[in-house]
Amino acid sequence: MTDTKLIQSEIGNRRTFAIISHPDAGKTTLTEKLLLLGGVIHLAGAVKAKRGRANAVSDWMEMERERGISITTSVLQFPYQGLHMNLLDTPGHADFSEDTYRTLHAVDGAVMLLDSAKGVEAQTQKLFRVCKHRSIPIFTFVNKMDRPGRDPFDLVGEVESMLGIGVYPITWPVFRSGVFRGIYHRIKRQVILFDEALAKSSAHLGSEIAPFKISEVDDPVLREELDQAGYQQLQDDIELLDCAGDEFDRQRFAAGEISPMFFGSAINNFGLEAFLETFCELMPPPGPRQANTGIIPAIQPDFSGFVFKIQANMNKAHRDRLAFVRICSGRFHRAMKVHHVRSGRDLRLANPTLFLAQERSLVDEAFAGDVIGVFDTGIFEIGDTLTEGAKFEFEKIPSFAPEYFSRLVSLDPMRRKQLTRGIEQLAQEGTIQLYRPAGGYAGEMILGAVGQLQMEVTKYRLQGEYGVKVKLEPLKYQLARWVSSSKGKLDLEALRVACPGIVVHDVRDRCVVLFEQEWAIGFAKERLPDVVFAETAQGVVVRDDQ
Ligand code: G4P
Repeated sequence: MTDTKLIQSEIGNRRTFAIISHPDAGKTTLTEKLLLLGGVIHLAGAVKAKRGRANAVSDWMEMERERGISITTSVLQFPYQGLHMNLLDTPGHADFSEDTYRTLHAVDGAVMLLDSAKGVEAQTQKLFRVCKHRSIPIFTFVNKMDRPGRDPFDLVGEVESMLGIGVYPITWPVFRSGVFRGIYHRIKRQVILFDEALAKSSAHLGSEIAPFKISEVDDPVLREELDQAGYQQLQDDIELLDCAGDEFDRQRFAAGEISPMFFGSAINNFGLEAFLETFCELMPPPGPRQANTGIIPAIQPDFSGFVFKIQANMNKAHRDRLAFVRICSGRFHRAMKVHHVRSGRDLRLANPTLFLAQERSLVDEAFAGDVIGVFDTGIFEIGDTLTEGAKFEFEKIPSFAPEYFSRLVSLDPMRRKQLTRGIEQLAQEGTIQLYRPAGGYAGEMILGAVGQLQMEVTKYRLQGEYGVKVKLEPLKYQLARWVSSSKGKLDLEALRVACPGIVVHDVRDRCVVLFEQEWAIGFAKERLPDVVFAETAQGVVVRDDQ
Protein backbone atom coordinates (compact mmCIF):
# COMPACT_ATOMS: atom_id res chain seq x y z
CA MET A 1 0.00 0.00 0.00
CA THR A 2 1.34 3.45 -0.81
CA ASP A 3 1.69 5.95 1.98
CA THR A 4 -1.26 8.04 0.81
CA LYS A 5 -3.44 4.97 0.50
CA LEU A 6 -2.46 3.82 3.98
CA ILE A 7 -3.28 7.23 5.45
CA GLN A 8 -6.63 7.27 3.67
CA SER A 9 -7.53 3.78 4.77
CA GLU A 10 -6.58 4.48 8.42
CA ILE A 11 -8.63 7.68 8.45
CA GLY A 12 -11.52 5.93 6.73
CA ASN A 13 -11.62 3.50 9.68
CA ARG A 14 -11.79 6.16 12.38
CA ARG A 15 -15.09 6.89 14.12
CA THR A 16 -14.80 9.72 16.64
CA PHE A 17 -17.85 10.37 18.78
CA ALA A 18 -19.22 11.24 22.21
CA ILE A 19 -22.19 10.05 24.25
CA ILE A 20 -24.36 12.91 25.42
CA SER A 21 -26.75 12.32 28.27
CA HIS A 22 -28.04 13.52 31.59
CA PRO A 23 -26.35 11.97 34.65
CA ASP A 24 -27.75 8.51 35.46
CA ALA A 25 -29.14 7.76 32.00
CA GLY A 26 -26.56 4.97 31.68
CA LYS A 27 -23.56 6.50 29.90
CA THR A 28 -21.02 4.61 31.99
CA THR A 29 -22.93 1.37 31.51
CA LEU A 30 -23.17 1.85 27.75
CA THR A 31 -19.48 2.77 27.52
CA GLU A 32 -18.61 -0.31 29.44
CA LYS A 33 -20.68 -2.50 27.13
CA LEU A 34 -18.98 -0.97 24.09
CA LEU A 35 -15.59 -1.78 25.57
CA LEU A 36 -16.72 -5.32 26.38
CA LEU A 37 -17.99 -5.79 22.85
CA GLY A 38 -14.76 -4.32 21.48
CA GLY A 39 -12.91 -6.94 23.51
CA VAL A 40 -10.95 -4.27 25.34
CA ILE A 41 -12.09 -5.11 28.84
CA HIS A 42 -13.28 -8.43 30.05
CA LEU A 43 -15.24 -7.67 33.15
CA ALA A 44 -18.34 -5.62 33.61
CA GLY A 45 -17.67 -2.95 36.21
CA ALA A 46 -14.22 -1.99 35.02
CA VAL A 47 -15.27 1.50 34.03
CA LYS A 48 -16.87 2.14 37.36
CA ALA A 49 -14.06 4.32 38.66
CA LYS A 50 -16.00 7.49 38.20
CA ARG A 51 -19.17 6.20 39.75
CA GLY A 52 -20.07 6.98 43.30
CA ARG A 53 -17.98 10.10 43.38
CA ALA A 54 -20.41 12.00 45.49
CA ASN A 55 -17.96 14.76 46.23
CA ALA A 56 -16.46 15.06 42.81
CA VAL A 57 -14.33 18.08 43.53
CA SER A 58 -12.21 16.71 46.30
CA ASP A 59 -12.11 13.22 44.85
CA TRP A 60 -10.97 14.56 41.57
CA MET A 61 -8.17 16.54 43.13
CA GLU A 62 -7.20 13.59 45.25
CA MET A 63 -7.05 11.48 42.14
CA GLU A 64 -4.95 14.04 40.33
CA ARG A 65 -2.50 14.11 43.19
CA GLU A 66 -2.13 10.37 43.19
CA ARG A 67 -1.70 9.91 39.50
CA GLY A 68 -0.03 13.09 38.40
CA ILE A 69 -2.18 14.00 35.48
CA SER A 70 -5.43 12.19 35.31
CA ILE A 71 -6.55 10.66 32.09
CA THR A 72 -9.41 8.77 33.68
CA THR A 73 -11.81 8.11 30.87
CA SER A 74 -11.17 11.26 28.84
CA VAL A 75 -10.65 9.38 25.59
CA LEU A 76 -11.32 5.73 24.99
CA GLN A 77 -9.90 4.13 21.92
CA PHE A 78 -11.06 0.65 21.01
CA PRO A 79 -11.54 -1.56 17.97
CA TYR A 80 -14.98 -2.67 16.85
CA GLN A 81 -15.81 -4.69 13.74
CA GLY A 82 -12.69 -3.57 11.96
CA LEU A 83 -13.27 0.06 12.87
CA HIS A 84 -11.16 2.18 15.14
CA MET A 85 -13.46 3.88 17.64
CA ASN A 86 -12.51 7.03 19.54
CA LEU A 87 -15.06 7.69 22.27
CA LEU A 88 -14.56 11.06 23.96
CA ASP A 89 -15.95 11.52 27.44
CA THR A 90 -18.32 14.37 28.27
CA PRO A 91 -18.32 14.54 32.07
CA GLY A 92 -21.49 15.36 33.94
CA HIS A 93 -22.51 15.97 37.56
CA ALA A 94 -20.13 18.27 39.35
CA ASP A 95 -17.43 17.63 36.71
CA PHE A 96 -19.47 19.52 34.16
CA SER A 97 -17.35 22.31 32.76
CA GLU A 98 -16.59 24.13 29.54
CA ASP A 99 -14.41 21.18 28.59
CA THR A 100 -17.59 19.14 28.34
CA TYR A 101 -18.87 21.48 25.64
CA ARG A 102 -15.52 21.83 23.92
CA THR A 103 -15.18 18.09 23.60
CA LEU A 104 -18.18 18.18 21.30
CA HIS A 105 -16.12 20.30 18.91
CA ALA A 106 -13.65 17.44 18.63
CA VAL A 107 -16.13 14.73 17.60
CA ASP A 108 -17.70 13.86 14.27
CA GLY A 109 -20.97 12.59 15.72
CA ALA A 110 -22.79 11.87 18.96
CA VAL A 111 -24.99 9.28 20.60
CA MET A 112 -27.77 10.86 22.62
CA LEU A 113 -28.70 8.54 25.45
CA LEU A 114 -32.11 8.96 27.07
CA ASP A 115 -33.61 7.27 30.10
CA SER A 116 -36.92 5.81 28.87
CA ALA A 117 -38.72 7.03 31.99
CA LYS A 118 -37.29 10.54 31.89
CA GLY A 119 -36.97 11.51 28.25
CA VAL A 120 -35.06 14.66 27.36
CA GLU A 121 -33.42 16.06 30.52
CA ALA A 122 -31.63 19.34 31.18
CA GLN A 123 -28.02 18.31 30.58
CA THR A 124 -28.88 16.37 27.43
CA GLN A 125 -30.59 19.44 26.10
CA LYS A 126 -27.54 21.65 26.76
CA LEU A 127 -25.13 19.23 25.10
CA PHE A 128 -27.51 18.61 22.24
CA ARG A 129 -27.55 22.31 21.43
CA VAL A 130 -23.80 22.29 20.88
CA CYS A 131 -24.10 19.29 18.53
CA LYS A 132 -26.95 20.94 16.68
CA HIS A 133 -24.93 24.12 16.31
CA ARG A 134 -22.17 22.08 14.66
CA SER A 135 -24.67 20.15 12.48
CA ILE A 136 -23.10 16.79 13.33
CA PRO A 137 -24.99 13.50 13.02
CA ILE A 138 -26.75 12.35 16.19
CA PHE A 139 -27.99 8.86 17.09
CA THR A 140 -30.62 8.44 19.80
CA PHE A 141 -30.62 5.42 22.11
CA VAL A 142 -33.51 5.10 24.56
CA ASN A 143 -32.14 3.16 27.52
CA LYS A 144 -33.61 1.30 30.52
CA MET A 145 -36.44 -0.22 28.48
CA ASP A 146 -36.45 -3.13 30.95
CA ARG A 147 -38.11 -0.76 33.43
CA PRO A 148 -41.50 0.86 33.18
CA GLY A 149 -41.01 3.93 31.04
CA ARG A 150 -42.82 6.47 28.91
CA ASP A 151 -44.81 5.68 25.80
CA PRO A 152 -42.32 5.45 22.88
CA PHE A 153 -44.41 7.74 20.65
CA ASP A 154 -44.34 10.26 23.48
CA LEU A 155 -40.55 10.11 23.56
CA VAL A 156 -40.32 10.59 19.80
CA GLY A 157 -42.58 13.64 20.09
CA GLU A 158 -40.58 15.05 22.96
CA VAL A 159 -37.26 14.79 21.12
CA GLU A 160 -38.76 16.40 18.05
CA SER A 161 -40.45 19.25 19.85
CA MET A 162 -37.89 19.99 22.58
CA LEU A 163 -34.78 19.57 20.45
CA GLY A 164 -36.02 20.52 17.03
CA ILE A 165 -34.66 17.45 15.28
CA GLY A 166 -36.56 14.88 13.23
CA VAL A 167 -36.60 11.32 14.59
CA TYR A 168 -36.53 8.13 12.55
CA PRO A 169 -37.01 5.03 14.71
CA ILE A 170 -34.90 2.18 13.33
CA THR A 171 -35.90 -0.16 16.15
CA TRP A 172 -39.14 -0.08 18.10
CA PRO A 173 -39.99 -1.69 21.45
CA VAL A 174 -42.21 -4.76 21.64
CA PHE A 175 -44.15 -5.52 24.81
CA ARG A 176 -46.04 -8.41 26.37
CA SER A 177 -48.48 -7.43 29.08
CA GLY A 178 -46.77 -4.07 29.16
CA VAL A 179 -43.35 -5.61 29.82
CA PHE A 180 -40.51 -5.03 27.35
CA ARG A 181 -39.84 -8.20 25.35
CA GLY A 182 -37.69 -7.06 22.49
CA ILE A 183 -37.45 -4.82 19.47
CA TYR A 184 -38.88 -4.65 16.00
CA HIS A 185 -36.24 -3.75 13.40
CA ARG A 186 -37.98 -1.52 10.88
CA ILE A 187 -35.40 -1.86 8.11
CA LYS A 188 -35.05 -5.63 8.38
CA ARG A 189 -38.74 -6.04 9.19
CA GLN A 190 -37.89 -8.56 11.88
CA VAL A 191 -38.72 -8.89 15.54
CA ILE A 192 -35.85 -9.63 17.90
CA LEU A 193 -37.12 -11.15 21.12
CA PHE A 194 -34.83 -11.42 24.04
CA ASP A 195 -34.55 -14.62 25.95
CA GLU A 196 -36.52 -13.81 29.04
CA ALA A 197 -35.28 -16.61 31.21
CA LEU A 198 -31.66 -15.81 30.56
CA ALA A 199 -32.30 -12.13 30.82
CA LYS A 200 -33.64 -12.64 34.34
CA SER A 201 -30.53 -14.47 35.39
CA SER A 202 -27.28 -12.57 35.34
CA ALA A 203 -25.52 -15.25 33.28
CA HIS A 204 -25.34 -13.09 30.17
CA LEU A 205 -23.98 -9.98 31.78
CA GLY A 206 -20.50 -10.62 30.43
CA SER A 207 -19.22 -9.65 27.05
CA GLU A 208 -21.92 -11.41 25.05
CA ILE A 209 -24.77 -9.75 23.27
CA ALA A 210 -27.89 -10.87 25.12
CA PRO A 211 -29.44 -14.05 23.73
CA PHE A 212 -32.32 -13.50 21.38
CA LYS A 213 -34.71 -15.09 18.90
CA ILE A 214 -35.49 -13.56 15.56
CA SER A 215 -38.86 -13.90 13.95
CA GLU A 216 -40.77 -12.39 11.09
CA VAL A 217 -43.64 -10.06 11.93
CA ASP A 218 -46.29 -12.49 10.64
CA ASP A 219 -44.70 -15.57 12.17
CA PRO A 220 -47.37 -17.42 14.22
CA VAL A 221 -44.70 -18.07 16.88
CA LEU A 222 -44.64 -14.35 17.53
CA ARG A 223 -48.32 -14.40 18.40
CA GLU A 224 -47.56 -16.97 21.05
CA GLU A 225 -44.55 -15.11 22.40
CA LEU A 226 -46.55 -11.92 22.79
CA ASP A 227 -50.06 -11.85 24.20
CA GLN A 228 -52.94 -10.75 21.99
CA ALA A 229 -52.76 -7.14 23.17
CA GLY A 230 -48.97 -6.98 22.69
CA TYR A 231 -49.21 -8.47 19.22
CA GLN A 232 -51.98 -6.10 18.21
CA GLN A 233 -50.08 -3.14 19.60
CA LEU A 234 -47.05 -4.08 17.53
CA GLN A 235 -49.13 -4.29 14.34
CA ASP A 236 -50.73 -0.93 15.09
CA ASP A 237 -47.39 0.69 15.91
CA ILE A 238 -45.82 -0.59 12.68
CA GLU A 239 -48.70 0.78 10.68
CA LEU A 240 -48.54 4.12 12.41
CA LEU A 241 -44.77 4.42 12.00
CA ASP A 242 -44.92 3.43 8.36
CA CYS A 243 -47.58 5.91 7.40
CA ALA A 244 -46.24 8.71 9.58
CA GLY A 245 -42.63 8.65 8.50
CA ASP A 246 -40.74 9.22 5.27
CA GLU A 247 -37.84 7.11 4.12
CA PHE A 248 -34.68 7.49 6.18
CA ASP A 249 -32.76 10.32 4.54
CA ARG A 250 -29.00 9.88 4.90
CA GLN A 251 -28.18 13.40 3.86
CA ARG A 252 -30.46 14.89 6.48
CA PHE A 253 -28.94 12.53 9.04
CA ALA A 254 -25.39 13.60 8.09
CA ALA A 255 -26.42 17.25 8.49
CA GLY A 256 -27.78 16.59 11.99
CA GLU A 257 -31.39 17.21 10.95
CA ILE A 258 -32.74 13.73 11.56
CA SER A 259 -31.77 11.24 14.24
CA PRO A 260 -32.10 7.46 13.96
CA MET A 261 -33.65 6.18 17.20
CA PHE A 262 -33.07 2.85 18.95
CA PHE A 263 -34.55 1.24 22.04
CA GLY A 264 -32.91 -1.14 24.49
CA SER A 265 -31.30 -1.72 27.83
CA ALA A 266 -27.59 -1.15 28.16
CA ILE A 267 -27.24 -3.06 31.39
CA ASN A 268 -28.86 -6.16 29.92
CA ASN A 269 -27.16 -5.84 26.54
CA PHE A 270 -30.60 -5.59 24.96
CA GLY A 271 -30.86 -3.84 21.63
CA LEU A 272 -27.21 -2.86 21.50
CA GLU A 273 -26.34 -5.04 18.54
CA ALA A 274 -28.98 -3.53 16.29
CA PHE A 275 -27.84 -0.10 17.38
CA LEU A 276 -24.16 -0.81 16.81
CA GLU A 277 -24.76 -2.37 13.44
CA THR A 278 -26.44 0.79 12.18
CA PHE A 279 -23.96 2.98 14.01
CA CYS A 280 -21.06 1.35 12.15
CA GLU A 281 -22.89 1.73 8.88
CA LEU A 282 -23.96 5.34 9.28
CA MET A 283 -21.44 7.06 11.51
CA PRO A 284 -19.15 8.99 9.18
CA PRO A 285 -15.34 8.89 9.30
CA PRO A 286 -13.51 12.20 9.91
CA GLY A 287 -14.57 14.72 7.32
CA PRO A 288 -13.28 18.09 6.13
CA ARG A 289 -13.01 20.96 8.61
CA GLN A 290 -13.35 24.68 8.14
CA ALA A 291 -10.19 26.76 8.54
CA ASN A 292 -9.60 30.46 7.94
CA THR A 293 -8.06 29.68 4.56
CA GLY A 294 -10.82 27.33 3.42
CA ILE A 295 -11.76 23.69 3.88
CA ILE A 296 -9.11 21.23 5.12
CA PRO A 297 -9.82 17.66 3.95
CA ALA A 298 -9.21 14.99 6.61
CA ILE A 299 -7.52 12.69 4.13
CA GLN A 300 -4.82 15.09 3.04
CA PRO A 301 -1.47 13.60 4.08
CA ASP A 302 -0.27 16.70 5.98
CA PHE A 303 -0.93 16.66 9.70
CA SER A 304 -3.12 19.28 11.32
CA GLY A 305 -5.14 19.44 14.53
CA PHE A 306 -6.39 21.71 17.28
CA VAL A 307 -6.30 21.84 21.07
CA PHE A 308 -9.77 21.31 22.52
CA LYS A 309 -9.02 20.68 26.17
CA ILE A 310 -6.26 21.48 28.62
CA GLN A 311 -6.09 19.48 31.79
CA ALA A 312 -4.13 21.06 34.57
CA ASN A 313 -2.00 19.02 36.83
CA MET A 314 -3.28 19.60 40.31
CA ASN A 315 -0.01 18.47 41.81
CA LYS A 316 2.02 21.52 42.82
CA ALA A 317 5.28 19.66 42.25
CA HIS A 318 4.51 19.22 38.55
CA ARG A 319 3.36 22.37 36.91
CA ASP A 320 2.92 20.83 33.52
CA ARG A 321 -0.44 20.33 31.97
CA LEU A 322 -1.84 18.03 29.37
CA ALA A 323 -3.25 19.46 26.15
CA PHE A 324 -5.66 17.29 24.18
CA VAL A 325 -5.26 17.62 20.43
CA ARG A 326 -7.86 16.39 17.98
CA ILE A 327 -6.09 15.43 14.76
CA CYS A 328 -8.08 16.83 11.84
CA SER A 329 -6.01 15.78 8.86
CA GLY A 330 -3.22 13.47 7.84
CA ARG A 331 -0.84 11.51 9.97
CA PHE A 332 1.05 12.42 13.12
CA HIS A 333 4.23 10.66 14.19
CA ARG A 334 6.26 11.01 17.30
CA ALA A 335 9.43 12.52 15.93
CA MET A 336 7.56 15.11 13.98
CA LYS A 337 8.09 18.86 14.35
CA VAL A 338 4.81 20.72 14.41
CA HIS A 339 4.00 24.34 13.73
CA HIS A 340 2.11 26.21 16.47
CA VAL A 341 0.26 28.70 14.31
CA ARG A 342 -0.73 31.30 16.94
CA SER A 343 2.85 31.84 18.17
CA GLY A 344 4.48 31.11 14.80
CA ARG A 345 6.84 28.66 16.53
CA ASP A 346 7.90 25.18 15.50
CA LEU A 347 7.76 22.66 18.33
CA ARG A 348 8.59 19.09 19.03
CA LEU A 349 5.75 17.71 21.13
CA ALA A 350 6.92 16.21 24.38
CA ASN A 351 5.74 12.69 25.12
CA PRO A 352 2.75 12.60 22.81
CA THR A 353 0.34 10.17 24.32
CA LEU A 354 -2.39 8.06 22.85
CA PHE A 355 -5.27 7.02 25.02
CA LEU A 356 -6.20 3.40 25.19
CA ALA A 357 -9.17 2.15 27.06
CA GLN A 358 -7.44 1.50 30.34
CA GLU A 359 -4.03 3.04 30.05
CA ARG A 360 -2.13 5.51 28.01
CA SER A 361 0.89 4.80 25.93
CA LEU A 362 3.39 6.81 23.94
CA VAL A 363 2.13 7.34 20.46
CA ASP A 364 4.20 6.32 17.48
CA GLU A 365 1.70 7.44 14.94
CA ALA A 366 -1.87 8.65 14.91
CA PHE A 367 -4.32 9.71 12.24
CA ALA A 368 -7.11 12.19 11.63
CA GLY A 369 -9.91 11.38 14.04
CA ASP A 370 -7.54 10.38 16.86
CA VAL A 371 -6.87 12.40 19.98
CA ILE A 372 -3.37 12.73 21.34
CA GLY A 373 -2.34 14.21 24.65
CA VAL A 374 0.77 16.37 24.76
CA PHE A 375 2.56 17.87 27.73
CA ASP A 376 2.14 21.59 27.81
CA THR A 377 4.46 23.91 29.60
CA GLY A 378 2.16 26.87 29.14
CA ILE A 379 2.27 27.46 25.40
CA PHE A 380 -1.16 26.16 24.44
CA GLU A 381 -4.56 27.77 24.60
CA ILE A 382 -7.90 26.22 23.85
CA GLY A 383 -8.50 26.32 20.10
CA ASP A 384 -4.82 26.56 19.05
CA THR A 385 -4.06 25.03 15.68
CA LEU A 386 -1.05 22.78 15.07
CA THR A 387 0.09 21.96 11.54
CA GLU A 388 2.97 20.44 9.67
CA GLY A 389 4.06 23.93 8.59
CA ALA A 390 0.95 25.44 7.02
CA LYS A 391 -0.24 28.75 8.45
CA PHE A 392 -4.01 28.23 8.58
CA GLU A 393 -6.11 28.16 11.74
CA PHE A 394 -9.22 26.10 12.43
CA GLU A 395 -12.45 27.79 13.42
CA LYS A 396 -12.35 29.05 16.99
CA ILE A 397 -14.19 27.14 19.67
CA PRO A 398 -16.78 29.55 21.07
CA SER A 399 -16.96 30.57 24.72
CA PHE A 400 -20.12 29.12 26.20
CA ALA A 401 -22.58 31.05 28.27
CA PRO A 402 -21.67 30.45 31.92
CA GLU A 403 -24.32 29.77 34.54
CA TYR A 404 -22.31 30.28 37.73
CA PHE A 405 -20.82 33.62 38.68
CA SER A 406 -18.64 34.67 41.61
CA ARG A 407 -16.84 37.80 42.64
CA LEU A 408 -13.12 37.16 43.05
CA VAL A 409 -11.84 38.56 46.33
CA SER A 410 -8.14 38.54 47.09
CA LEU A 411 -7.20 37.47 50.61
CA ASP A 412 -3.68 38.61 49.94
CA PRO A 413 -3.62 42.31 49.02
CA MET A 414 0.18 42.30 48.69
CA ARG A 415 0.00 39.81 45.83
CA ARG A 416 -2.29 41.72 43.50
CA LYS A 417 0.13 41.51 40.56
CA GLN A 418 0.41 37.73 40.84
CA LEU A 419 -3.35 37.48 41.11
CA THR A 420 -3.90 39.52 37.96
CA ARG A 421 -1.28 37.57 36.03
CA GLY A 422 -2.60 34.22 37.27
CA ILE A 423 -6.26 34.83 36.64
CA GLU A 424 -5.60 36.30 33.21
CA GLN A 425 -3.56 33.26 32.27
CA LEU A 426 -6.23 30.88 33.52
CA ALA A 427 -8.87 32.78 31.60
CA GLN A 428 -6.79 32.82 28.38
CA GLU A 429 -6.19 29.13 28.73
CA GLY A 430 -9.93 28.56 29.03
CA THR A 431 -10.14 27.33 32.63
CA ILE A 432 -12.59 30.04 33.62
CA GLN A 433 -14.27 33.08 32.13
CA LEU A 434 -13.14 36.41 33.52
CA TYR A 435 -15.17 39.61 33.41
CA ARG A 436 -14.44 43.14 34.47
CA PRO A 437 -17.45 45.31 35.24
CA ALA A 438 -17.71 48.32 32.95
CA GLY A 439 -17.17 51.31 35.18
CA GLY A 440 -16.33 49.12 38.21
CA TYR A 441 -13.42 49.97 40.49
CA ALA A 442 -10.01 49.05 39.10
CA GLY A 443 -9.21 45.42 39.74
CA GLU A 444 -12.79 44.26 40.28
CA MET A 445 -13.17 40.81 38.80
CA ILE A 446 -16.11 38.47 38.23
CA LEU A 447 -15.64 34.83 37.29
CA GLY A 448 -18.07 32.84 35.17
CA ALA A 449 -18.26 29.08 34.65
CA VAL A 450 -20.63 26.53 33.17
CA GLY A 451 -19.99 24.17 36.11
CA GLN A 452 -19.18 24.62 39.78
CA LEU A 453 -16.00 22.53 39.45
CA GLN A 454 -14.38 25.21 37.29
CA MET A 455 -14.65 27.65 40.21
CA GLU A 456 -13.01 25.23 42.63
CA VAL A 457 -10.23 24.42 40.18
CA THR A 458 -9.52 28.12 39.62
CA LYS A 459 -9.26 28.82 43.34
CA TYR A 460 -7.01 25.82 43.83
CA ARG A 461 -4.74 26.68 40.93
CA LEU A 462 -4.41 30.34 41.91
CA GLN A 463 -3.09 29.22 45.24
CA GLY A 464 -1.01 26.31 43.97
CA GLU A 465 0.55 27.91 40.91
CA TYR A 466 0.56 31.62 41.64
CA GLY A 467 0.69 31.64 45.44
CA VAL A 468 -2.42 33.76 45.92
CA LYS A 469 -5.25 33.00 48.28
CA VAL A 470 -8.68 34.07 47.10
CA LYS A 471 -12.27 33.89 48.20
CA LEU A 472 -15.10 33.38 45.73
CA GLU A 473 -18.33 35.14 46.63
CA PRO A 474 -21.23 33.63 44.70
CA LEU A 475 -23.32 36.15 42.74
CA LYS A 476 -26.97 35.83 41.80
CA TYR A 477 -26.45 36.11 38.04
CA GLN A 478 -27.28 33.00 36.05
CA LEU A 479 -27.13 34.06 32.43
CA ALA A 480 -24.54 35.78 30.27
CA ARG A 481 -25.15 37.27 26.85
CA TRP A 482 -22.47 38.63 24.51
CA VAL A 483 -23.82 41.84 23.08
CA SER A 484 -23.25 43.66 19.83
CA SER A 485 -25.22 46.22 17.91
CA SER A 486 -26.76 45.46 14.56
CA LYS A 487 -26.21 49.14 13.78
CA GLY A 488 -22.43 49.10 14.30
CA LYS A 489 -21.38 50.99 17.42
CA LEU A 490 -22.66 49.77 20.74
CA ASP A 491 -23.92 52.48 23.08
CA LEU A 492 -22.59 51.33 26.46
CA GLU A 493 -24.37 54.01 28.41
CA ALA A 494 -27.75 53.11 26.86
CA LEU A 495 -27.02 49.47 27.59
CA ARG A 496 -26.27 50.20 31.24
CA VAL A 497 -29.43 52.22 31.68
CA ALA A 498 -31.76 49.83 29.84
CA CYS A 499 -30.50 46.41 30.96
CA PRO A 500 -31.70 44.85 34.21
CA GLY A 501 -28.28 43.27 34.60
CA ILE A 502 -24.63 44.20 34.93
CA VAL A 503 -22.50 45.24 31.93
CA VAL A 504 -19.01 43.68 31.92
CA HIS A 505 -16.15 42.98 29.50
CA ASP A 506 -14.66 39.57 28.93
CA VAL A 507 -10.97 38.72 28.70
CA ARG A 508 -10.93 39.59 24.98
CA ASP A 509 -12.67 42.89 25.75
CA ARG A 510 -16.00 41.88 24.28
CA CYS A 511 -19.08 43.35 25.89
CA VAL A 512 -21.23 40.99 27.97
CA VAL A 513 -24.33 41.52 30.10
CA LEU A 514 -24.96 39.27 33.11
CA PHE A 515 -28.61 38.70 34.01
CA GLU A 516 -30.28 37.10 37.00
CA GLN A 517 -33.27 35.71 35.13
CA GLU A 518 -34.46 34.84 31.64
CA TRP A 519 -37.26 37.44 31.66
CA ALA A 520 -34.66 40.20 32.07
CA ILE A 521 -33.12 39.26 28.71
CA GLY A 522 -36.51 39.55 27.01
CA PHE A 523 -37.02 42.89 28.71
CA ALA A 524 -33.61 44.17 27.55
CA LYS A 525 -34.29 42.98 23.99
CA GLU A 526 -37.57 44.87 23.92
CA ARG A 527 -35.98 48.08 25.10
CA LEU A 528 -32.95 47.77 22.82
CA PRO A 529 -34.19 46.30 19.53
CA ASP A 530 -30.88 47.01 17.74
CA VAL A 531 -28.80 45.07 20.24
CA VAL A 532 -28.03 41.40 19.61
CA PHE A 533 -27.81 39.23 22.75
CA ALA A 534 -25.80 36.11 21.81
CA GLU A 535 -25.46 32.94 23.90
CA THR A 536 -21.85 32.38 22.84
CA ALA A 537 -18.98 34.70 22.05
CA GLN A 538 -18.77 33.39 18.51
CA GLY A 539 -19.26 36.13 16.00
CA VAL A 540 -19.15 38.90 18.58
CA VAL A 541 -16.60 41.51 17.59
CA VAL A 542 -14.16 42.95 20.07
CA ARG A 543 -14.97 46.33 21.55
CA ASP A 544 -12.25 48.18 19.66
CA ASP A 545 -13.82 47.19 16.37
CA GLN A 546 -17.30 48.33 17.24
P1 G4P B 1 -24.30 7.63 33.97
O1 G4P B 1 -22.90 7.24 33.62
O2 G4P B 1 -25.07 8.13 32.79
O3 G4P B 1 -24.41 8.54 35.14
O4 G4P B 1 -25.12 6.32 34.37
P2 G4P B 1 -24.64 4.88 34.83
O5 G4P B 1 -24.17 4.07 33.68
O6 G4P B 1 -23.73 5.02 36.00
O7 G4P B 1 -26.04 4.29 35.24
C1 G4P B 1 -26.87 4.87 36.23
C2 G4P B 1 -27.70 3.78 36.89
O8 G4P B 1 -28.59 3.23 35.91
C3 G4P B 1 -26.87 2.62 37.41
O9 G4P B 1 -27.52 2.11 38.55
C4 G4P B 1 -26.97 1.60 36.29
O10 G4P B 1 -26.78 0.28 36.74
C5 G4P B 1 -28.39 1.82 35.85
N1 G4P B 1 -28.63 1.39 34.45
C6 G4P B 1 -27.88 1.61 33.35
N2 G4P B 1 -28.44 1.04 32.26
C7 G4P B 1 -29.59 0.46 32.68
C8 G4P B 1 -30.61 -0.30 32.04
O11 G4P B 1 -30.59 -0.56 30.83
N3 G4P B 1 -31.64 -0.72 32.82
C9 G4P B 1 -31.70 -0.47 34.16
N4 G4P B 1 -32.75 -0.94 34.82
N5 G4P B 1 -30.76 0.21 34.80
C10 G4P B 1 -29.72 0.68 34.08
P3 G4P B 1 -27.00 2.41 40.01
O12 G4P B 1 -27.89 1.66 40.93
O13 G4P B 1 -26.90 3.89 40.19
O14 G4P B 1 -25.53 1.90 39.98
P4 G4P B 1 -25.00 0.38 40.08
O15 G4P B 1 -25.11 0.04 41.50
O16 G4P B 1 -25.87 -0.46 39.20
O17 G4P B 1 -23.62 0.49 39.59
